[in-house]
Amino acid sequence: MKALLEALPRRLCALQRRCSSAKAAATTSRIPNDGLGLDHFIAKSQAEQRHTRQAKIIPSLADSETYLSPEDYHGRGRKVKFMTYGCQMNVSDMEIVRSMLFANGYAETESKAQADVILLMTCSIREGAEEKIWKELKKIRSASKRQVVGVLGCMAERVRHTILEKAKKVDVVAGPDAYRDLPRLLAVAGTGRNAINVQLSLEETYANVNPVRTDPESKSAFVSIMRGCDNMCTYCVVPYTRGRERSRPISWILDEVRRLSDEGVKQVTLLGQNVNSYRDQSETSFHLATSSTSTVPGFRTVYKPKTGGLTFLTLLDKVSSIDPEMRIRFTSPHPKDFPLEVIHLIRERANICNQLHIPAQSGNDAVLEAMGRGYSRELYLNLIRDVRSVLPDVALTSDFIAGFCGETEEAHQDTLSLMREVQYSFCYVFPYSMRGKTRASRRLVDDVPEEVKQQRHEELATVFREGALAFNQKEINRERLVLIEEMGTKRSASAVSGRTDGGVKVIFENEPLPSEVDGSERALLPGDYVRVKVTGATSQTLSALPISRTTLGKYRSQKL
Ligand code: 5AD
Ligand code: SF4
Repeated sequence: MKALLEALPRRLCALQRRCSSAKAAATTSRIPNDGLGLDHFIAKSQAEQRHTRQAKIIPSLADSETYLSPEDYHGRGRKVKFMTYGCQMNVSDMEIVRSMLFANGYAETESKAQADVILLMTCSIREGAEEKIWKELKKIRSASKRQVVGVLGCMAERVRHTILEKAKKVDVVAGPDAYRDLPRLLAVAGTGRNAINVQLSLEETYANVNPVRTDPESKSAFVSIMRGCDNMCTYCVVPYTRGRERSRPISWILDEVRRLSDEGVKQVTLLGQNVNSYRDQSETSFHLATSSTSTVPGFRTVYKPKTGGLTFLTLLDKVSSIDPEMRIRFTSPHPKDFPLEVIHLIRERANICNQLHIPAQSGNDAVLEAMGRGYSRELYLNLIRDVRSVLPDVALTSDFIAGFCGETEEAHQDTLSLMREVQYSFCYVFPYSMRGKTRASRRLVDDVPEEVKQQRHEELATVFREGALAFNQKEINRERLVLIEEMGTKRSASAVSGRTDGGVKVIFENEPLPSEVDGSERALLPGDYVRVKVTGATSQTLSALPISRTTLGKYRSQKL
């Protein structure tokens, strides 16, 4: 009787919740409700979304059945092993997850064996990325039965229930917009049930979450500025796994960068799936709104031109003004969102790095059209010409896909010739991997044989390396500013490595160097700026003679 009376207020509370909240996620032992995918969300109104988002943080109907209350969401010191796969965006997402779990009483462990919970931040971009994760899940399952295992991120969104069926050891599945719900999902899993939330949101940017950095000692940090992608390139699964584009309000980003500057961070990389289409349309920023559309003339989009709000130009201007000694980079952009004003700002601002990632994907018009990239080879090359006319020294990097649907040998040759013409300092090259749900998987035929894809992939890699070597050789005898990142290299414990403004890795011996500011001498540390003279080059790295320790401001003023 006593137990019944004690349970009564909880039960009443749960019933109230049942009336006031929409069900956001469920345990799979009842009606499997994994939330709704992108298609549904496109149709839903913003108002409904706001309601759903609120509902997500209110304990759901499923909890009332297991009598879980917010106190049950506390980790009570349980240890979590965080495992991150895929891109920088995933590293950044894991920092958000860590922040949320630490705030809920969880602790971190480096050891899989000692962990109570293992969380995998996953990637779906190519089949190979998912295969790695299936293998890891199998390994975890055969090693232990007692741990709670969670699959987070893109693969959770894409494969959903299949994960629970195929990898029987998985207890929690949480999509990229469901991390706030993790304490509850883990609590449900603690009762022996599976818990899943793959609901996508039109608004979630984790705006107010202070990420817990993976390496707090590092002098480089990543700051997430937007999520999702509206471009719908035909080959790409990202719009389906990460949902619609939305930008984090500028004030939160500026606060985070200020905090990092106070902590002594010397390099911030702004992150987003489509970073330069940043557009803060939050109500609080509306009074600052300046811009109309910011797409490069001639480039097409699948969506109606976006207007209003604060664009990437404003953000970049404000972020780079916070700390003139802090280098600013950004990734990954789309070529359509590089108005000349952004390029001019990069030239003016000493601390915005002279490196641009401008993914081409292909150098052939028919393939670009089939990919839905919204530009031709000529438009792309015009953009590169315009960029170089303002930033003659700029280091350009790109992404390319080998063997996309319908790619002929001639089309492949066009891509090789584009690579030679642009001469990138680095390229990511990938063999095409067909992904379910994408427009290419529904409308096009994956008709380039695997061995031809591999062959073309290798040819792309060879040609980009030739270009990178030529680019790097031009650096020989030049003076460059290097920001030191790491002490010791694979070959020499007494060496240090860092990067030029253009993002090229430079390696040299660590020796006491005089400071240009006060003449004092000491050995180098991460976060030091060093003036060097480049002495040698491979396609991947530069070697150099260090001259002096300096500051970004001093180096730049002498260059001008
Ligand atoms: N197959 C191969 N590469 C892909 N990318 C995206 N989707 C696919 C796919 N299905 C590449 C693109 C993109 C990068 C992040 O990954 O080059 O720019
Ligand atoms: Fe994928 Fe294209 Fe969006 Fe990049 S821009 S995430 S390739 S859809």
